[in-house]
Amino acid sequence: MNIHRSIRAVLATGLCLAALTAGARAADGQGWRDPALSPDERARLLDAQLTPDERIALLHGPMALPFKLDKLPDGAVGGAGYIPGIPRLGIPALKETDASLGVTNPMGIRPGDTATALPSGLALAATFNAKLAHDGGAMIGREALAKGFNVLLAGGVNLARDPRNGRNFEYLGEDPWLAGVLAGESIRGIQSNPIISTIKHFSLNGQETNRHWANSVIGEAAHRESDLLAFQIAIEKGQPGSVMCAYNLVNSAYSCGNDHLLNGVLKGDWGYKGWVMSDWGAVHATDYALKGLDQQSGEQLDDQVWFGEPLKQAVTAGTVPAARLSDMSRRILRSMFAAGLFEAKAPPVIDAAAHAAIAKSVADEGIVLLSNSKGLLPLAPSVKKVAVIGGHADSGVLSGAGSSQVTSVGGNPTVIPVGGEGFMAAWLRQAFHNSPPLAALRAALPGAVVSFNDGRYPAAAAALAKDADIVILFANQWMSEGLDAYDMNLPGGQDALIEAVAAANPNNIVVLQTGGPVLMPWLDKVGGVVAAWYGGQKGGEAIADILTGKTNPSGRLPVTFPASADQYPRPTLPGWGLPEKQQFDVVYEEGADVGYRRFAASGMKPLFPFGHGLSYTTFAYDKLRVKGGDTLTVSFEVTNTGKLQGKDAPQIYLAGAAGKKLRRLIGFEKIDLKPGERRTVTVKADPRLLASFDEAERQWRIEGGDYDVAVGPSAATTVLSGKARVGQRTLKP
Ligand code: BGC
Repeated sequence: MNIHRSIRAVLATGLCLAALTAGARAADGQGWRDPALSPDERARLLDAQLTPDERIALLHGPMALPFKLDKLPDGAVGGAGYIPGIPRLGIPALKETDASLGVTNPMGIRPGDTATALPSGLALAATFNAKLAHDGGAMIGREALAKGFNVLLAGGVNLARDPRNGRNFEYLGEDPWLAGVLAGESIRGIQSNPIISTIKHFSLNGQETNRHWANSVIGEAAHRESDLLAFQIAIEKGQPGSVMCAYNLVNSAYSCGNDHLLNGVLKGDWGYKGWVMSDWGAVHATDYALKGLDQQSGEQLDDQVWFGEPLKQAVTAGTVPAARLSDMSRRILRSMFAAGLFEAKAPPVIDAAAHAAIAKSVADEGIVLLSNSKGLLPLAPSVKKVAVIGGHADSGVLSGAGSSQVTSVGGNPTVIPVGGEGFMAAWLRQAFHNSPPLAALRAALPGAVVSFNDGRYPAAAAALAKDADIVILFANQWMSEGLDAYDMNLPGGQDALIEAVAAANPNNIVVLQTGGPVLMPWLDKVGGVVAAWYGGQKGGEAIADILTGKTNPSGRLPVTFPASADQYPRPTLPGWGLPEKQQFDVVYEEGADVGYRRFAASGMKPLFPFGHGLSYTTFAYDKLRVKGGDTLTVSFEVTNTGKLQGKDAPQIYLAGAAGKKLRRLIGFEKIDLKPGERRTVTVKADPRLLASFDEAERQWRIEGGDYDVAVGPSAATTVLSGKARVGQRTLKP
């Protein structure tokens, strides 16, 4: 009793003291220091302490690179960006680094500094594994923190509308649910550290060709049901501190000065509380402040520091209200409080081996076995002579280029300049991560002679192939930010190389390292095809483990592989060959029917459908139950019917909505099953996936009626089907 009384007394004293301290703090303007207050309240209180000049100082900053700068600002960590802090109030500087695939080191600005390189975003999407997205995010967050950064410019979630888009490799495929869930998890992982993540590039930065002058044209409903839905889902799940607007225009207004997108959709309809930062060199006017942009990034790339002196003058003149200026800085401070940036913590100690293991897991689960028509895989243990050809497989695994390029642990041993001038030249190089598939195959097949030919001369490669038990042929498609692929063919004569080698030896496997789908005119001549994307710093080992069966493949296509280029709406890339500064339209006539949705709507047959991927075991699905009501709840059982343990990614699609035929992924799960094991999968669909967007009423609308469900191993194969009644309802936008 007495003890309880004394505890209560101590607690009461403590609470009183805390109240007194809080009271005293509030009185002297220090109330924002109280960690018990919400980030909104702390930001409001702290913002009230700022002078207008201090507010302006938070709203713009340079790229932290020696580009059009005499020297880096004091305190900056060399990298993507820097916004000075306000020491008087203990406001830390924002130290920004790219990006989703690992912490970058652009232009080698931090000499010798390397980081764990994850496989490409498409490889992550191909894992269909939300936990891996979280693990990868948490990992790069820790590394960014250890290097002194507190903002990660990650979260790329633009849908792969055009297979030629040079940045598809950074993103998460063509489906809004898959991309939204994985981006959200990756951001949640990043922000499990005291660090802010962005989500980008808002919105419809669907191609790189003349990206500064591309006007993305789309209807409102179609936009909401596709790219915007991916952003919306990812923002809800990941709560990123900042949204990065894009280079392009959307429906004739630049995305960073797009009142409808920023004020209307993001901050209005979605109630987003963080801040909007510009992409680097994407600001064209001061009045973007009125359109919803909160911060100008990479300011030396713009014509002017619009959010510096010109913004100050606009506030003095009253054209930008002082309240809006406060809103801008308050939003930044809010995200800083929410992420814990004010509470200094010791930088984490990096466990490089554990981080490499995460990169390996993503590569393992992201590799897609597209075809194994001759049953050549996994390689027979008796194999004695293996010919490895092409793809610089002796040097490393290819990576995509641009701002996301990571200098991986161990360095990037092979870097091949591609040609090009100016600032971009630093990017225009094929870099390989130090994980050569050739060495990994030799280690995995100690009893075999594994020979290599670089593939420059198809006849020489064919001569080596002729004599081998099995041929592993690597084919690369290098992709980069700032550039699109001209078409969907493998570049550099690799199709002819594959034809020549396949003619010499039918026991061949093609391993593709690409930034997205490519055409395969040789498909019926090869023994199997593996999509390895860009495999990150453990990519070579992951490829060898898949080929030799140490890893049972479980990747699934996050993008459709078409049978021909004319299965896409735009035969040539809009804007290709146009001079700079000449605006042009990119008309997204497919609307919300991106990728497989359009194939389903028009009955086209792809080469390999979205969701496809083989395993060395087999899975069966049964016992489907579909429940209706407010939305669909679907459950069924998955059984491993083969002889090997393996992971499956069963997919649940909406196949019809109140009489309308369609195809939309409404759920997926990654499960690991031993032979004979069975597991129940249950998915409750996000109701927006059942709805259409009602532009006039600015809300989602679900028509009442029967909703058809298809469960299967890809968008094109239905194993189980069922239906249930869903009631008519509307949902907020
Ligand atoms: C890219 C962004 C990147 C930024 C900073 C821009 O060119 O579009 O994705 O975060 O540069 O490096």
